[in-house]
Amino acid sequence: MAKKKSYYAETSMIDEAIRTLRTNISFSSIDKKIKKILITSSHPGEGKSTIALKLARSMANNGQKVLLMDCDLRNPTLSKLIGNKISIGMTNLLVKGLQLEDVKIDDDVSNNLDIILTGPTPPNPSELLGSNKMKSLLSKAEEIYDVVILDTPPGGILTDAQVLATMVDGVLLVVAQGETKYEEIDNTLKNLKNVGANVLGTVLNKVKIKGNQSKYGYGYGGSKEVKSKL
Ligand SMILES: Nc1ncnc2c1ncn2[C@@H]1O[C@H](COP(=O)(O)OP(=O)(O)OP(=O)(O)O)[C@@H](O)[C@H]1O
Ligand SMILES: [Mg+2]
Repeated sequence: MAKKKSYYAETSMIDEAIRTLRTNISFSSIDKKIKKILITSSHPGEGKSTIALKLARSMANNGQKVLLMDCDLRNPTLSKLIGNKISIGMTNLLVKGLQLEDVKIDDDVSNNLDIILTGPTPPNPSELLGSNKMKSLLSKAEEIYDVVILDTPPGGILTDAQVLATMVDGVLLVVAQGETKYEEIDNTLKNLKNVGANVLGTVLNKVKIKGNQSKYGYGYGGSKEVKSKL
């Protein structure tokens, strides 16, 4: 029974942190509405897809119509997270001329959330993601949805996130506590800023909670606070 209690405490703590993240995003721009949000990190496995899905579900549960796109065409993670292995997705939209309606799937958890998985792995992901087709896909998605969230590969290693960062309203940089070095974060931020990305802030993930080293949580900070957080 004790185990169950701790599970619920942890779950509600994570939900609360994601709600705070959602609120902070909505307050992060006064003049321009943040509709298209890109999520990246410095290296693999920092929690981009986990946070993208939780944030998308949280926004959808809050009444917004949300589209989550798995733009990590090289290493699809979302399909595993949602337990759906359909083989059509982004590449079919970008190469085969299918329409958004043909490839989107309903999320099992949140009514207001649609998801586009990656589809077959292409030989030229950066080229596809930087194409005019991708730009028109995002414009169309923006007309239909209140929020569009893009899950991407690590921006510290590959250029895909940089390419997409020029097409969105804001970028969130996920930082895994105890895993990401300051130099790596600095380098990724430079890569993003070089292309003129609007970095909304960092999401501190896998935060060790005092007194119980096995638990994890989330935190959020503006990009200028990165130094003080690590
Ligand atoms: N806050 C957290 N607490 C505990 N485990 C977490 C947390 N966030 C992510 N994880 C775990 O870390 C692993 C990597 O997470 P995820 O797939 O979301 O990362 P990613 O950055 O999308 O990885 P990739 O770069 O491979 O796409 C997964 O096993 C996930 O369950
Ligand atoms: Mg991922």
